[in-house]
Amino acid sequence: MRYREVFQQSIEQPEAFWRDKASWIDWFQSPETILSQREDGHYDWFPDGKLNTADLALDAHIRAGRGDQLALIHDSPVTGTKQQFTYRELTERVARFAGALRDQGVGPGDRVIIYMPMVPETVIGMLACARLGAIHSVVFGGFASRELAVRIDDARPTLVLTASCGIEVDRVIEYKPLVDAALEEATHKPDTCVVLARPQARADLKDGRDLDWQTLEQAGNPVDPVPVRATDPLYILYTSGTTGKPKGVVRDNGGHAVAMRYSMSLVYNAEPGDVFWAASDVGWVVGHSYIVYAPLITGCTTVLYEGKPVKTPDAGAFWRVCADYGVNILFTAPTAFRAVRKEDPEADELAKYDIRSLKRILLAGERLDPPTYDWLTEKTELPILDHWWQTETGWAICCNPIGIETLPTKPGSATVPSPGFDVDILDVSGEPVGPGEQGQVAVRLPLPPGCLTTVWGDPGRFRRTYLDPAPGYYHSGDGGFIDENGYVFIMGRTDDVINVAGHRLSTGEMEEVVAGHPAVAECCVIGVRDEMRGQVPVGLVLLKDGATIGADELEDELVEMVREQIGAVACFRRAEVVDRLPKTRSGKILRRVLRDIADGEDYATPSTIDDPAILGEIENRLRP
Ligand code: COA
Ligand code: AMP
Repeated sequence: MRYREVFQQSIEQPEAFWRDKASWIDWFQSPETILSQREDGHYDWFPDGKLNTADLALDAHIRAGRGDQLALIHDSPVTGTKQQFTYRELTERVARFAGALRDQGVGPGDRVIIYMPMVPETVIGMLACARLGAIHSVVFGGFASRELAVRIDDARPTLVLTASCGIEVDRVIEYKPLVDAALEEATHKPDTCVVLARPQARADLKDGRDLDWQTLEQAGNPVDPVPVRATDPLYILYTSGTTGKPKGVVRDNGGHAVAMRYSMSLVYNAEPGDVFWAASDVGWVVGHSYIVYAPLITGCTTVLYEGKPVKTPDAGAFWRVCADYGVNILFTAPTAFRAVRKEDPEADELAKYDIRSLKRILLAGERLDPPTYDWLTEKTELPILDHWWQTETGWAICCNPIGIETLPTKPGSATVPSPGFDVDILDVSGEPVGPGEQGQVAVRLPLPPGCLTTVWGDPGRFRRTYLDPAPGYYHSGDGGFIDENGYVFIMGRTDDVINVAGHRLSTGEMEEVVAGHPAVAECCVIGVRDEMRGQVPVGLVLLKDGATIGADELEDELVEMVREQIGAVACFRRAEVVDRLPKTRSGKILRRVLRDIADGEDYATPSTIDDPAILGEIENRLRP
């Protein structure tokens, strides 16, 4: 069947379509019901099915005779270490650690926060939770302790998993003091904190609360996977929204497993035994889906890389890893290759390695800019494939469906909707628009398996954010258009979310921090174009009457505050003092026009502006 027919079937007969895909995985109890509607109007996939995600990712492969195949390769240029685990070895470690967690009182439905660097134990911790039916929530290591505290209070975990440190190129980032500060700040106090000791930093263990990982794991008795309902949550992953409070995206077990397995075939054309490398971080959705769950559920060998595309030690790092392990499929964010290209424009490093194993490169996390696409195509002579998705969906909403048929690519387009995603472009009143017209990108309900089922602890926010903006649709928050051939073009967020080096961040959250400075009367944070990171935040601040602080001193203090309260990953490095901010007559800040000014775009003076003269003043400041 061709893509169009497959897509049509997925939309017209979703139950038959996904019943078939559900048969690709092992269930403890196969689902009879494929799709049902909840009382709140949202949908559940496979509600009467029972399974265990860790069983699919580990034990199922031993049963299928793949026990001696490599499951996980850890490559860490920052510590100079490499480690490999077969499916059998990884299963043993996970089963034992799950037993250890159970001894600490972790059971089905309990939450476990994981604040860890890119080490095998992080994957072991995630899978151990899945094995017990517990719900993990991984927090990216670049977030500050306040962010961790907010997530601890929202998820209310039984236990926290952490390590003594992470390593950023050559800097040791001690995690334990950050975790201690978060646990101090949080209202909810987990009983236990398990700490992995790494040789690069010593962690002080607090009596009665903190336990040493290795000692605990060694004492654990291996446990078998616990059957859970398909609709039981597997994990919570917090993502930035428009307010300071991150949203806990909830992923179920059954729909997720089916979607992970199917997407590996559809989007990546990966097969069991392939070496799959998602060069991202387990703290992001890309890491959850394509470092851990999808490759392992599919029986691939997954690469866990603790390093950067450049500086660890050079711009040949990615090619070296591909050559060392015979990587077949590489997935990363365009920003990683922008960094490589900047340091090695002629790709001299590439010539040093044999990357003939590599079949294709997939890119997502932000817009794939044509110069990066062209450079990669020219230098590698490989298929370079864009795909568009979000934390909320867990897998590609749009892709080149190479598992069915390879479609011609169009620069700037993430190609076509994946089967199951009925994508439409809506105008401001929620009505579909015609080909080529820009609007809000929305997906007609029901969403396919694998997408978020709710916002943790706040079903109202789930409804308000995603379902209420256009009844009958999932609201993506991205703007874009569909051309006359059905190709989808994503033009960027229409809300206050920005994308910095493939990392999703909330300008609203940064504004809350900046507004907390005693000299700041009012502020606005916008995302402006950046050659390497795609976007970076810039703050515009108005001083309180009588404030005497100098602009440079204020900038330093604001930068430090955002680093302290959100984290280095926010990349907040610039704040400009302005006399006024452009607003509508009703007092709303005109962010769009500010962005256009900062990006050097032509802009039209909005008719709603209260005082057009302000734009000239801002232009002088933002375009020196
Ligand atoms: N723990 C602690 N700090 C972290 C961190 C982590 N896991 N990840 C990033 N940081 C810090 C960085 O050290 C840096 O700190 P600094 O301001 O003190 O220098 C800051 O956060 C900004 O990080 P980043 O924007 O990543 O800058 P970088 O210079 O370290 O690297 C790239 C730039 C492009 C090489 C890097 O962002 C990259 O490889 N991106 C790939 C994209 C990606 O993985 N996206 C995930 C979704 S697919
Ligand atoms: P995250 O939830 O962190 O994965 O970020 C999701 C957001 O990143 C989307 O809403 C888009 O704005 C952006 N994004 C991801 N992939 C792409 C892509 N291929 N093209 C354009 N934007 C993308």
